[in-house]
Amino acid sequence: MTSQNPIFIPGPTNIPEELRKAVDMPTIDHRSPVFGRMLHPALEGVKKVLKTDQAQVFLFPSTGTGGWETALTNTLSPGDKVLAARNGMFSHRWIDMCQRHRLDVTHIEVPWGEGIPAARFEEILTADKGHEIRVVLATHNETATGVKSDIAAIRRALDAARHPALLFVDGVSSIGSMDFRMDEWGVDIAVTGSQKGFMLPPGLAIVAFSPKAMAAVETAKLPRTFFDIRDMATGYARNGYPYTPPVGLINGLNAACERILSEGLENVFARHHRIAGGIRAAVDAWGLKLCAARPDLYSDTVSAIRVPDGFDANRIVSHALETYDMAFGTGLGEVAGKVFRIGHLGSLTDAMALSGLAVAEMVMVDLGLPVRLGSGVAAAQEHYRQSTVSALRKAA
Ligand SMILES: Cc1ncc(COP(=O)(O)O)c(C=O)c1O
Repeated sequence: MTSQNPIFIPGPTNIPEELRKAVDMPTIDHRSPVFGRMLHPALEGVKKVLKTDQAQVFLFPSTGTGGWETALTNTLSPGDKVLAARNGMFSHRWIDMCQRHRLDVTHIEVPWGEGIPAARFEEILTADKGHEIRVVLATHNETATGVKSDIAAIRRALDAARHPALLFVDGVSSIGSMDFRMDEWGVDIAVTGSQKGFMLPPGLAIVAFSPKAMAAVETAKLPRTFFDIRDMATGYARNGYPYTPPVGLINGLNAACERILSEGLENVFARHHRIAGGIRAAVDAWGLKLCAARPDLYSDTVSAIRVPDGFDANRIVSHALETYDMAFGTGLGEVAGKVFRIGHLGSLTDAMALSGLAVAEMVMVDLGLPVRLGSGVAAAQEHYRQSTVSALRKAA
């Protein structure tokens, strides 16, 4: 890939120039106070993005997957009971990780394209009179299917069942792009990575623990060393790490939080919603359907688009790359070959989104799909034009 085309995989996302520069810095002494002056504002910035006053944030040299492991191993013991729903590749992998750690997972099978069934969770939690379930897992945004689940509804399910289980939320493809309210939703651990909403290269697991999750650390018996948050907390208190920190990424995270907060969190969410609306208008104009079953499930960060039966969706992804030097996401797991994905998160504008739609159209026409050149682009243009004009009118 040599091009300057934007990227349309659902993470890693496009890296704005200012963040690339923040990551690319000369070596500093990570045991000097200079490092602390970078670390602490980054931790504070993440708290603001998560909308939490109470949680403690930890940054591991890892990715979202390491964030899952941090959550589990710091709070649970072998045999502990976990409740989860499997509605896509990422919820599947988190469940698999629990099983490999010898946790006892009750998981609800959900059709891919549906969200987490909060009502089923409530039934199961209500029936668990002995409060044996220790943790409820929820993937806020299933990146494989483009499905957003309602975390507030899961909190209500826990509360209605009067159940004390901890709530762990995977926000890898939502945090920093879609509304996430750690304190208000009573999230005990939030997990994300540097390479999606934060618009940085991969390399950081970003994990936040509520006071209740911090208390669980004291009794947890699963083995952990590298991901032990107690060592990390001791390091932070001394402006350092228990090992060598990824200094450039932490400097980048600080700059990323500044960028997100100066745009304004609500403006960032509104931009993602508007851009996603244009993508969805295009999909509709192409006569195609999203994998997400209903509008209330539509993700504002990724759209998984079903192709006609018998057509291999991977051909769209490979043709786009080979012919037009543009990257879209393939389908994963149960929907491999059935969907292709357009990632629309991070540093993205309406104009960038239109370029992706234009190329997707060319690809589909090249491959003989019954799509008319310009149809999706025109629908998205209309969406962007109208939403921009109405926002300008409101502001005037
Ligand atoms: C929702 C979700 N969870 C977890 C992960 C795993 O994160 P990573 O690839 O950073 O380990 C991803 C990656 O795309 C994801 O989209």
